[in-house]
Amino acid sequence: MERVNLLVSDVDNTLLGDDAALERFASWFDHARAHVRLAYNSGRFPRSLAQSVRTSGLPRPDAYIGGVGTEIEIVSSGKRLDDWPPLDDCWDPEAIRAVLLAHKELRPQPDHLQSQFKVSFYGDELDDEFVDLLRQQFADLGHQVNIVYSSQRDLDVLPAGTNKGTAVAHLADHWQIDPQRVIVAGDSGNDLDMFRQGFRGIVVANAQPELRAYKSPNVYHATGPFADGVLEGLRYWLADHRAAPVTCGPSSPGPGADRGTRE
Ligand code: GLC
Ligand code: MG
Repeated sequence: MERVNLLVSDVDNTLLGDDAALERFASWFDHARAHVRLAYNSGRFPRSLAQSVRTSGLPRPDAYIGGVGTEIEIVSSGKRLDDWPPLDDCWDPEAIRAVLLAHKELRPQPDHLQSQFKVSFYGDELDDEFVDLLRQQFADLGHQVNIVYSSQRDLDVLPAGTNKGTAVAHLADHWQIDPQRVIVAGDSGNDLDMFRQGFRGIVVANAQPELRAYKSPNVYHATGPFADGVLEGLRYWLADHRAAPVTCGPSSPGPGADRGTRE
């Protein structure tokens, strides 16, 4: 096992959103690089994330997880992990698209946001009943899918078992990093699956209601927004660049603990 920590962060509205805060994050990472590996995990594809790294203050990461967990790219080799996502012979994106097109509440996202393993639509302010009905419909038709609804707008349909969380677990395993050394950060519904994996989590203060409502002992709710919230959570979870045991929480609360909450 590698003795490094792995920070996996969502990008839009988590690290991106406040340039000055992002500078503070980048300068922290400059010092922590020897002990911390960094991956970005987004609904966007790796190519689009790499573009943001070129044009913003985002530090160069070690990996990209893109397309809501459907693609993992290692930056040093420029190669996509070819054993991800797990092969599923029943996955039929065309049939899934046809099911979604029949609902007047939904409209397809542009072609450049679709891929072999990600079928994405827009649907404004959908309620839980509607999403449950979709789940039922896919199940009745024999499609094993994972539906992710975020930001009261984005509906992604992915192969069952593939999401931002299982992709992080796969990357940690690929790098032989102990899951107890993995810290994840996010702001919206598609990040929930990272927290459900039991990694130490950080929810930034500007998060969507669906994430603010998620309470668990492994999730720290920062009082700071955007990259400041990520830094606050890192201070909470890390001491001397070492993650504390998951079962006991950190040995000392750290500077963020008097402000944020872990519930
Ligand atoms: C990004 C993707 C979009 C997806 C959304 C939520 O915005 O471009 O396709 O629906 O994230 O996962
Ligand atoms: Mg986001």
